Amino acid sequence: MKVEFAPLNIPLARRLQTAAVLQWVLSFLLLAQLCLGVIVFLVIYNYWFLYIPYLTWLYFDWRTPEQGGRRSDWVRSWTIWRYFKDYFPIHELFPGLTAYLHVLPFWFRCPLFREYLMSSGPVSVSRRSVSHVLSKEGGGNISVIVLGGAEESLDAHPGKFTLFIRQRKGFVKIALTHGAYLVPVFSFGENELFKQVSNPEGSWLRTVQEKLQKIMGFALPLFHARGIFQYNFGLMPYRKPIHTVVGRPIPVHQTLHPTPQQVEELHQTYMEELRKLFEEHKGKYGIPENETLIFR
Ligand SMILES: *[C@@H]1O[C@H](CO)[C@@H](O)[C@H](O)[C@H]1NC(C)=O
Repeated sequence: MKVEFAPLNIPLARRLQTAAVLQWVLSFLLLAQLCLGVIVFLVIYNYWFLYIPYLTWLYFDWRTPEQGGRRSDWVRSWTIWRYFKDYFPIHELFPGLTAYLHVLPFWFRCPLFREYLMSSGPVSVSRRSVSHVLSKEGGGNISVIVLGGAEESLDAHPGKFTLFIRQRKGFVKIALTHGAYLVPVFSFGENELFKQVSNPEGSWLRTVQEKLQKIMGFALPLFHARGIFQYNFGLMPYRKPIHTVVGRPIPVHQTLHPTPQQVEELHQTYMEELRKLFEEHKGKYGIPENETLIFR
């Protein structure tokens, strides 16, 4: 294999973009473990005057990720996020709305890490948490949920459009109980950012991954892409554009106790609208005419 190195005369802006993505990749891969390590260290060496106050705080703060979180406008305004966005680049979303990204509750159980994560905006993905956002006064607060989640990440290979949404109906039920409109959103390009070690269903790797996912609640796709100074291997994502397209909102009448049929119907409508959205835009983003979304 011939290694393709990055040229030496890269403009500063691009270097900063790479650094921004590197810190994100490192945070994602190592920060939670590092934080846990710090706590374990404090306990082992009996720095009780540090960990007792923190654990007390944790006890009283445990529910915050389900109650709107604790976003910090200061953290969110860090220049690093702009460089992060421009690396791919990612094209903007949801002007004028306050978006709450719902992520796996697992991340909020990591001490210290949770404080950093929460300051950047995300909240937990539980029913209670979504209800909290949708019940806010004044409107304009929206819940952003990545429906396929952990399971879907195992099928996130370049050129694939497999979405795990057939069994995901909780979001439909919450939308009905709140009368919240459903808005299909699709990001073109996400699956192109990383390659993933081949794991077709039935392979031993997939079996192990699925078992681990059942136990831990999150999946371990074996992803790889490029490095910092060369383009052949490493855990840095490729520089490829992400285009997020937003579909027509599906009006939802508030129904406090939706029947299974009502949930089913709205779920069906949602999937149809998502498919339309994909078909409408795929040509623009270089997706071959014969490619369609696959719902699992
Ligand atoms: C979101 O909810 C808050 C109340 O928590 C409200 O003040 C605000 O106007 C709402 N809308 C937007 C766009 O943030």
